[in-house]
Amino acid sequence: MSDQNPEVKYFEPPVFLSESEIKERVRELASRINEEYGNNEITAICTLKGSVVFFSDLLRLLKMPVTCEFLGVSSYGDHTESTGEVKVTLDLNEPLNGRHVLIIEDIVDTGLTLSYLLDYLKAKRPASLRTVALLFKPAAIKTKGLKIDYIGFEIPNRFVVGYGLDYAEKFRGLPYIGTLEG
Ligand code: PRP
Repeated sequence: MSDQNPEVKYFEPPVFLSESEIKERVRELASRINEEYGNNEITAICTLKGSVVFFSDLLRLLKMPVTCEFLGVSSYGDHTESTGEVKVTLDLNEPLNGRHVLIIEDIVDTGLTLSYLLDYLKAKRPASLRTVALLFKPAAIKTKGLKIDYIGFEIPNRFVVGYGLDYAEKFRGLPYIGTLEG
C-alpha cells in the first residue's frame, strides 16, 4: 500500500511500562489465578476492546479449562475522560448461572465501567465473580468499595495507551504501555 503522507511520522509515545515488565507481571498474575482456582472451570470475560491484548496473553498462561466470552463496553468514546455513561456495545453469548466468572479488564480508572459490569454480571447469577485488572489508577477512582481481586500495576493518574489501550482508537497495537502526558 502506498504511503499517503510520508511526511507524517507515526508518533511513538514514551515507554511507561515496557514489554518485559508487562510480561513478567502477567506471568505473576496468571500463577496466582492458577493457584487459587485450581482445576475449576472458569468463564473468562474479555471486556472489549481495551482488554483484548491482556486477555489473550493471560489466557495462554491459564491452566484450568477456560470458556471465553466477549463483552463490548465503552464509556470514553474519543475522549480522554470517562463520559460517565457505560454502554454495552456487544453482549454475551452464553448464560453465566453457576459458572466461575473472571472479568478481565485492561484498566480501572474511575471504576465506573467495572462497577457497572459487576452489577450487570452479578444479576446473571454466577457461582463466583472475580476481577483482574492489569492497571489500576487509585487517584482516579470515583466508585466506593470496588472489588478488584487481582491487580497488575497501580499507576498514577496519567493517560496511558498501548497493549490494547487507545486514544481515539489509536495505539492499541503498541507492544508496551506508553503515556501521552509528560
Ligand atoms: C476503557 C477501558 C476500561 C474502562 C476503564 O474502555 O478499557 O474498560 O475504560 O475506565 P473507567 O474505570 O473510568 O470506567 P473504553 O470505554 O475506553 O472502551 P474501549 O475498551 O473500547 O477502549
